[in-house]
Amino acid sequence: MVDSGAARTPSVTKAVVPAAGLGTRFLPATKATPKEMLPVVDKPAIQYVVEEAVKAGLSDMLLVTGRSKRSIEDHFDRAYELEEALTAKEDWDKLGLVRESSELASVHYVRQGDPKGLGHAVLCAAQHVGDEPFAVLLGDDLIHPDESLLTKMIEVRERHGGSVLALMELDPEEVSLYGCAAIAPTAEDGVVMVTDLVEKPVPGQAPSRWILIGRYVCDPEVFDVLRRTQPGRGGEIQLTDALKILARRGDVRGVLFHGRRYDTGNKLDYLRTMVQFACDRPDLASEFVPWLRKYLESVEQ
Ligand code: G1P
Repeated sequence: MVDSGAARTPSVTKAVVPAAGLGTRFLPATKATPKEMLPVVDKPAIQYVVEEAVKAGLSDMLLVTGRSKRSIEDHFDRAYELEEALTAKEDWDKLGLVRESSELASVHYVRQGDPKGLGHAVLCAAQHVGDEPFAVLLGDDLIHPDESLLTKMIEVRERHGGSVLALMELDPEEVSLYGCAAIAPTAEDGVVMVTDLVEKPVPGQAPSRWILIGRYVCDPEVFDVLRRTQPGRGGEIQLTDALKILARRGDVRGVLFHGRRYDTGNKLDYLRTMVQFACDRPDLASEFVPWLRKYLESVEQ
C-alpha cells in the first residue's frame, strides 16, 4: 500500500512563498524594507526559505509580493555593477555571495494587490501552479538548514496524494497564536491524519497541542476550495479554513516535526533566531559565543 501512489502522483517542483505582508510588527525597520529582507546574521530571511525549498528539490519559486517589495526582486536578480566591481577587485568570495541568490532557482513573482490573508495569497498562485501539487513556505518560520522536513513532506505526498502539513507540538498557552490540528495516528511513524483544523483557537478550546508551522504541501484541489472560502479569523481568507474542508474529507496528513524551527515573526523571536544562527556559524561562533557568555555574566550581576 505504501508505494502504490508513487508512479501516479507527480512529484512536487513548485514552491509558493507568500511575501506580501506589511510587516507592522517590525516598524520602523519595515517602513521601506520588506520584513522578508531583514537579515538573519548576514542573509535575508527569505533567502533561507528559498534555499530550503531548493534543497528539497523544488526548482520553481513563486513569490507572492505586494507594494514596496522591489528589493526582494533585486535580491534574486543579477547585480551587474556590484559584480563588476568585485570582479575588478578579484574578490571571488564576495562575488560568490552576490551571485548565490540569483543562481539558486527560477524565481517568479505575482502581486497580491489587496492583502486579504494567507489563503488569498496562495490563491494568487493558482495560475502559475496549475494542476500540480505545490509547496507553501512561510518566511516567518525558519527551519534549520540541516533538517529535511520538506523532503519528508513531499515523500508523504508522493506515497499518499492529498495535502501534507508540518505540525509541531507546543505548550498549551502558545497554541492560540497558530493554526491547530486535530490528529489521528496512522501506521507510519511520525505521520498522522489531520481530521480537523482551527485557525488560532480560543484559549482552552484547541483540539490539540499540534500547531501548523509554515510548511505545507498542497494538492491543487485547495485552489477550488479557496475560491469558495469566506473570510475567517481576522476578517481574512485563511489557508487553514480551506485545508479544514480537505481534512474533513480525509485528504490531509501531517508530518510531526521535532526539529529546529525558529519563529522570526516578532521582535523577541527574531532576536533569539539571530543569536542561535550566529552561535551555529563556524566563521563567527569562536568569537561570538565566548563574548556572549561574558556579556551575559556581566548583565546577570
Ligand atoms: C499563519 C497561519 C497559521 C500558522 C502560522 C505559522 O499565521 O495562518 O495557521 O500556524 O502562519 O507561522 P500568521 O503567523 O500569518 O498569523
